[in-house]
Amino acid sequence: MFARSVLRTATRQSLRPTTFFTAPAVTAPIQRATFKSSSRDNEPDVPVVSYHEGQRTEETLNVPKTGTGPVQSPVKDVQKVAIPLNPNVYSQLTPTLAKFTLQGKVAVVTGGGRGLGFNMAQALTEVGVRGIAIMDVQQELGDRSARELSEQTGVDVRFYRVDVRDGQAMGQTVQDVVDHFGELNILINAAGIADSNIKAETYDHEKFRRLLDINITGSFLVAQACGNAMIQSGKGGSIINIASMSGSVVNYPQEQSCYNASKAAVIQLTKSLAAEWARYGIRVNSISPGYMDTALNRVPALDAQKRIWVDNTPQKRLGAPDDLNNLAVYLASDGSAFMTGNNCIIDGGYTLW
Ligand SMILES: NC(=O)c1ccc[n+]([C@@H]2O[C@H](COP(=O)([O-])OP(=O)(O)OC[C@H]3O[C@@H](n4cnc5c(N)ncnc54)[C@H](O)[C@@H]3O)[C@@H](O)[C@H]2O)c1
Repeated sequence: MFARSVLRTATRQSLRPTTFFTAPAVTAPIQRATFKSSSRDNEPDVPVVSYHEGQRTEETLNVPKTGTGPVQSPVKDVQKVAIPLNPNVYSQLTPTLAKFTLQGKVAVVTGGGRGLGFNMAQALTEVGVRGIAIMDVQQELGDRSARELSEQTGVDVRFYRVDVRDGQAMGQTVQDVVDHFGELNILINAAGIADSNIKAETYDHEKFRRLLDINITGSFLVAQACGNAMIQSGKGGSIINIASMSGSVVNYPQEQSCYNASKAAVIQLTKSLAAEWARYGIRVNSISPGYMDTALNRVPALDAQKRIWVDNTPQKRLGAPDDLNNLAVYLASDGSAFMTGNNCIIDGGYTLW
């Protein structure tokens, strides 16, 4: 069953004076979205906020209930402003540079409310993407990120509050993306959580299962929904899973067996899907970041360990939130047309030692 209700359409002008978001490091005002609850029992809404040409639209997808998302604090990274490429430039690009652009493409970015996902979404808008669907469980972050991205670049950006563990909701959300944009060409699968400093001998069973459910089952459910849309289009596409160097090496000094196992699984899922879906023109690759300076790692308890991480990194720094951007663009673009099933480690050299 699928139903959509348009709740309100308003110009940006009329929204400005209403409510202000108070998260750190962000000064722009934001209308806090309110959504009608589902009229049917046990069927949660997937709120959708769309920003296009200065207009904000709220809608709701009603989908059968299968779970709820984790509660997280609305920490926001300091963002750079995305700058769209002047359309007049495309005709002047050399064949090599032209292959790096994504003119007219449509992308889904999970975990795009903040951090690495949002930064990669910004990068896509700088190289020609015409539509982006951000999917995240954090309402305020996702809504604000969609608005910022659309205001900065003029790109049609939609935000769906949806949990990657909910396969049914994900299927209908991706269908809505295709209905709205006409197609789907790129998936950046960045939603994920981390648990660290938990010894294997005392790891709580439910905690262990929950992390696997988000990091590996969630990655699969999103890839399945987007992969099906790409198969049905007959045009293929590019799927980029965000794994981790933790899928290839064991981190030191913190114990995090579950996270490491989950990311090893993401790498192997990437290879398996790449082999299965090559016949449909779908390429599937993974990015394995090293230690990155995002909210995920901005936890006081990790301060002492961060010094060890930096010491053990040949480049002597954590990765910046935008350090994956150009690799993501490359993997999404025809520049990497012959690359599939590859796991690209980008870690300042950490895994060399
Ligand atoms: N930060 C690092 O050092 C690092 C290193 C290697 C890999 N990674 C991976 O990169 C990805 C992004 O990490 P980040 O540092 O930007 O983290 P982050 O916490 O800043 O962003 C992750 C986003 O995913 C969303 N999310 C979490 N659970 C979700 C769910 N069930 N459904 C939908 N959305 C959900 C969060 O709300 C958040 O907006 C993760 O998969 C992470 O494991 C991060």
